[in-house]
Amino acid sequence: MRILQFGRTGQVATAVQASAQGRAEVMALSRADCDLQDPEAIRAAILAADCDLVLNTAAFTQVDPAEARPDEAFAVNAIAPGEMAKTCAERDLPFVHLSTDAVFDGLTDRPYVETDTARPINVYGRSKLAGEQAVLAHPRTAVLRISWVFSRYGRNYVSFMLHLAREREVLKVVADQFGSPTDGEALAAFLVATAPRWAAAPTGDPVFGLFHFANAGETSRFDFAKAAIDRDPLTRARVEPTTQAAFAEPAPRPPRSPLDTGKLQRAFGFMPEPWRTAVERTADQLVATGFQA
Ligand SMILES: NC(=O)c1ccc[n+]([C@@H]2O[C@H](COP(=O)([O-])OP(=O)(O)OC[C@H]3O[C@@H](n4cnc5c(N)ncnc54)[C@H](OP(=O)(O)O)[C@@H]3O)[C@@H](O)[C@H]2O)c1
Repeated sequence: MRILQFGRTGQVATAVQASAQGRAEVMALSRADCDLQDPEAIRAAILAADCDLVLNTAAFTQVDPAEARPDEAFAVNAIAPGEMAKTCAERDLPFVHLSTDAVFDGLTDRPYVETDTARPINVYGRSKLAGEQAVLAHPRTAVLRISWVFSRYGRNYVSFMLHLAREREVLKVVADQFGSPTDGEALAAFLVATAPRWAAAPTGDPVFGLFHFANAGETSRFDFAKAAIDRDPLTRARVEPTTQAAFAEPAPRPPRSPLDTGKLQRAFGFMPEPWRTAVERTADQLVATGFQA
């Protein structure tokens, strides 16, 4: 199995490369190899590749800076994946893309299913939704919406909270934002394990389309952080709840955006692990091996 992957240094990109060792060959393209603001470079990379599947892990993921740089966010998150899917369709290659819970407004009283109306409330969410629409116009495309991704790799919420809890005496964490944490390593293992299935599946197969991928259960940012911090014997901060409003970030966040993964479970037989088990394991591993700020 040969996977052409856009993204090399990002959190999910790194997790996929680690998970693929001995199971699949991943040809990972960094920004220097292929800038996603250059559709011609994207097209050339896919046409030149000898691969069975194309996976896009790269994106403009900085939610607050995206408010001031919408053109760049749309170029990377919408136009670039659209070009990837179009070129894959020309070559009859399966294309797998990642999206986000940020396509929703967060005004829900239950976990979101794939057929719920997406109504993004910030530039990042709007650019990712435009990306979904662009790629799903092509056959043999799978989009996995994920949320609150953590892993042993890159700078992510779990590693960042562990770091802050060692640095500060008081750590204020938002307690009025709810969602589904996603174990980036479980995601990577799923992507690698499912690649041959996508590669063999014809147009119209139920493995293509839009899916939600997350750990089981829903939590607040506060309890998510606490679950990790409580595993670290060297933590010194007192962790206190605060509100989104108190943070006054440039981009509004959906207040509640848990993802229902029933469709993924039915299509792939995949059973997500409870979020707390996965967070505690990852925190234990990070505490044992060290983590980046
Ligand atoms: N992290 C989360 O909590 C989360 C939640 C929901 C959905 N997602 C989605 O999951 C996917 C993977 O996210 P992640 O957490 O792995 O993100 P990440 O760690 O921020 O990595 C993003 C990668 O995209 C690359 N990139 C950005 N602009 C580029 C450009 N113009 N050309 C080429 N490469 C570019 C970055 O390269 P550089 O290193 O060179 O900047 C980086 O390697 C994304 O689609 C994201 O929207 C993530």
